[in-house]
Amino acid sequence: MKKIAVLTSGGDAPGMNAAIRAVVRKSIYHGLEIYGVRRGFAGLINREAIPMQLGSVADIVHRGGTILHTARSPEFLTSEGQEKAVRFLKDEKIEGLVIIGGDGSFKGAKVLGDAGFLAVGVPATIDNDIPCTDFCIGFDTAVNTVTDAINKVRDTATSHERTYVIEVMGRNTGYIALAAGLAGGAESIIIPEVPFDMAEVCRRLMRGVQRGKLHSIILVAEGAASAMHVADEIKRLTQQEVRVAILGHLQRGGTPTAFDRILASRMGAKAVDLLLEGKGNYFVGYFKGEIKAIPFNEMFASSKEFSWSDYQLAGILAI
Ligand code: F6P
Repeated sequence: MKKIAVLTSGGDAPGMNAAIRAVVRKSIYHGLEIYGVRRGFAGLINREAIPMQLGSVADIVHRGGTILHTARSPEFLTSEGQEKAVRFLKDEKIEGLVIIGGDGSFKGAKVLGDAGFLAVGVPATIDNDIPCTDFCIGFDTAVNTVTDAINKVRDTATSHERTYVIEVMGRNTGYIALAAGLAGGAESIIIPEVPFDMAEVCRRLMRGVQRGKLHSIILVAEGAASAMHVADEIKRLTQQEVRVAILGHLQRGGTPTAFDRILASRMGAKAVDLLLEGKGNYFVGYFKGEIKAIPFNEMFASSKEFSWSDYQLAGILAI
């Protein structure tokens, strides 16, 4: 193993830069040549690799986003696109690839792994929806961002004695909503994993009003319902004054938390170790406090655990 490359793919996540830094510096430490591929899989197709030096990753550990840029590449989903990517890797004599991204990116990594390249994944997505790892890079930062937003909305909600419906990301999962709802003390958390009952949401809201609560926060995961629709229903059923805040892409930006930087550093370094050991078709997970190598096949055959106990706890603590 002499020459490897790193790319970021899919939606960006805070901590991707810390992971790139770890991959680049660990590779150089072991005497490898390391290239950065710009714009994810599209960059493999369009031959956009740049040599990375120690200084290429200076001053990025604390920055959100990704210095390599990212993309969702429809062309890589086609066999022609995949062939172009493989040809590029062969022409450049790149023997191993670290792919930093979410589950879609790992599917791409497996395509390259099955074509004979050593491809290793590093999980980075604010959605935290990848099985076999407790945490993905970016999730902790996004949860802190949402919790901070809840705190701010709460100030104005209390002043005006209003109900707020806050919509958060997560694609078709509710991990961000559940964690931030527990941290921020939301009165109700609406997530795709649990069928929701609008009458129950309203009952909880009115119970709070009757015992003198000055505001209510309803947290809605984008995959469960639209905040506008939930707000309209609450207004119709309770005649309370309701406002909506859709947090959107601000959840993907910002300086990564220390937790995400440490996770990214460990995962990036471990990915290089795996390539040096000649292991491909693995991703690096963080499971029960340990950094582990998990075969892609095991991850694709698993589903992510959902914490019922946290969901129930959030409900109990917000009575
Ligand atoms: O997967 C990360 C994520 O931010 C999801 O939470 C969200 O549904 C999606 O990406 C948004 O994608 P885009 O940035 O392409 O609009």
